[in-house]
Amino acid sequence: MIQNLLEGKRGIIFGALNDKSIAWKVAEKAKQQGAVFTLSNTAAACRMGEVRQLSELTGAELIPADATSVEDLTTVFSRSQEILGGKIDFVLHSIGMSLNVRKKHLYNDLDYNFLDKTLDISAISFHKMLQVAYKLDAIAEWGSVVALTYVAAQRTLFGYNDMADAKALLESIGRSFGYIYGCEKKVRINTISQSPTMTTAGSGVAGFDGLMDFSDRMSPLGNASAEDCANFCVTMFSDLTRKITMQNLFHDGGFSSMGMSERAMSQYNKSFEANDSQK
Ligand SMILES: NC(=O)c1ccc[n+]([C@@H]2O[C@H](COP(=O)([O-])OP(=O)(O)OC[C@H]3O[C@@H](n4cnc5c(N)ncnc54)[C@H](O)[C@@H]3O)[C@@H](O)[C@H]2O)c1
Repeated sequence: MIQNLLEGKRGIIFGALNDKSIAWKVAEKAKQQGAVFTLSNTAAACRMGEVRQLSELTGAELIPADATSVEDLTTVFSRSQEILGGKIDFVLHSIGMSLNVRKKHLYNDLDYNFLDKTLDISAISFHKMLQVAYKLDAIAEWGSVVALTYVAAQRTLFGYNDMADAKALLESIGRSFGYIYGCEKKVRINTISQSPTMTTAGSGVAGFDGLMDFSDRMSPLGNASAEDCANFCVTMFSDLTRKITMQNLFHDGGFSSMGMSERAMSQYNKSFEANDSQK
């Protein structure tokens, strides 16, 4: 196994809620690979025992912040540099929330106040994070910033709702800021488009079990797990990937390149045979 890929690196990991969270797995892997980092989540999430448990397990200080608040984010970047003793080498944005999804508003019956919140929490928070870091000059040269996204930004997957719009905006922010931060500070910014994963955020999507099963069967390599995603994030934080920036990187077992599989075609044909025999 590769050892100490993140030796000497300082990071900030946003969005670990419980041991199902992708950010939780990233924190565990980053620790294993020799990184030091801080953890951040909302004040409500930080009050929960589980996040505190991760903080103890990894020796990472927990800094409460609402990722939509520029003031809170300024505190996170300033405090993290003080605690860790220098500029930040990697940042994980692993944050998403839609009240339209939670309250089961369909896409053609959106509540626009909820939509504002979806976009602010799930996408604009990424811009705020980057702008705060940029103004504080908090990220070291060749630093790496990763945000997690989903293929619904490119393709319609019924049930993903206004989160699809948030992910499209998130990916665009990664490219637009990636250009500026790359030219001026050699900081790289990418989004990782992850398979459906059974987490608190994921399981809130309507028909999520079916979506996970469909995408697992449709992907030549099967769905990527949260742990697989953490391994990829750590690789992206390491010096092995220094020239990758402004990319949306699919980490999904091949799902995003599939149209129809042999297995799905045979199942589709069978459904017609079953219907025919009923007539
Ligand atoms: N689970 C999936 O199927 C899947 C697939 C692709 C991408 N993603 C993305 O991965 C990321 C992490 O999600 P997850 O699946 O690990 O679920 P999760 O529920 O464990 O994580 C979501 C996190 O967002 C945090 N959050 C919500 N509002 C916030 C705010 N205002 N300020 C700061 N933090 C806030 C939550 O507290 C939580 O920790 C999200 O961006 C999600 O869209 C998830």
